[in-house]
Amino acid sequence: MKEQLSKQRVLVIGGSKYLGLAVARRAGEAGAEVVIGARNLEQASQAAAQLPGASAIHIDITDESTIAAAAAKLGHVDHVVITASAHHNVLVKDLEHDKIVAAFEAKVIGPLLLAKHFAPILSPTGSILLFSGVAAWKPAPGYTVMGVTNGAVAFLASQLAKELAPIRVNAISPGITDSGTWDPLGEQDKKGLFAGAAASSLVGRVGTADDIADAAIWLLSAGNVSGETIHIEGGARHV
Ligand SMILES: NC(=O)c1ccc[n+]([C@@H]2O[C@H](COP(=O)([O-])OP(=O)(O)OC[C@H]3O[C@@H](n4cnc5c(N)ncnc54)[C@H](OP(=O)(O)O)[C@@H]3O)[C@@H](O)[C@H]2O)c1
Repeated sequence: MKEQLSKQRVLVIGGSKYLGLAVARRAGEAGAEVVIGARNLEQASQAAAQLPGASAIHIDITDESTIAAAAAKLGHVDHVVITASAHHNVLVKDLEHDKIVAAFEAKVIGPLLLAKHFAPILSPTGSILLFSGVAAWKPAPGYTVMGVTNGAVAFLASQLAKELAPIRVNAISPGITDSGTWDPLGEQDKKGLFAGAAASSLVGRVGTADDIADAAIWLLSAGNVSGETIHIEGGARHV
């Protein structure tokens, strides 16, 4: 795996923490020049300072002007990874218009506008890597917005792959993964969530950030894979 991404510039939007930071770190270990993109530039700079040779840039995936400005400033990238999400996990009867829109902006509209501004500066042998999620394939009350936005990401990957070819576009669909995003639940609730998720997988455990980073680096360098959604969820769709 070492140096797979040698001399390649990898922008990770959402790279200041959790799965984004894990992918950024692994990309750096694989020889990439890493750029951390985040809506909070200070957090991006702090994350970049942990990674040799990395830099930071301001990008809010819900604000087209910041996407356009970042593309103009960078001038050229080989790969873009987008981990951004916004949750609205409520029953249908409690849905709020603006929170639904925010969820679509983070996962679907933002990546579409990212493609608009970054395709012209992406290497023809480069790629865009989106993040979907297992909720798309496991309908559950209270998770309809998450399921639909993540499902849209899988279609977005295949649609963009066709139009932007030869630039490759793929998605990773994680199952419940111990990325740090669940820590605000508190130890007890997190343990309960993870126990339930482990029991609802074929491998009997939740995902790790390493599981996702491994898959991400492989997808960035898999030159014959495009338009695919790769499920890193221990077979949870089959339980
Ligand atoms: N972890 C899991 O169990 C799991 C399961 C299924 C799918 N996924 C998907 O995997 C992806 C990564 O998940 P994660 O575990 O790392 O946690 P996450 O909490 O979804 O992380 C989202 C990242 O995106 C950033 N972000 C949010 N809104 C943004 C915006 N408008 N512009 C730019 N960046 C923005 C966040 O940073 P700030 O909020 O600090 O700006 C954070 O770095 C997400 O798309 C998630 O839906 C995760």
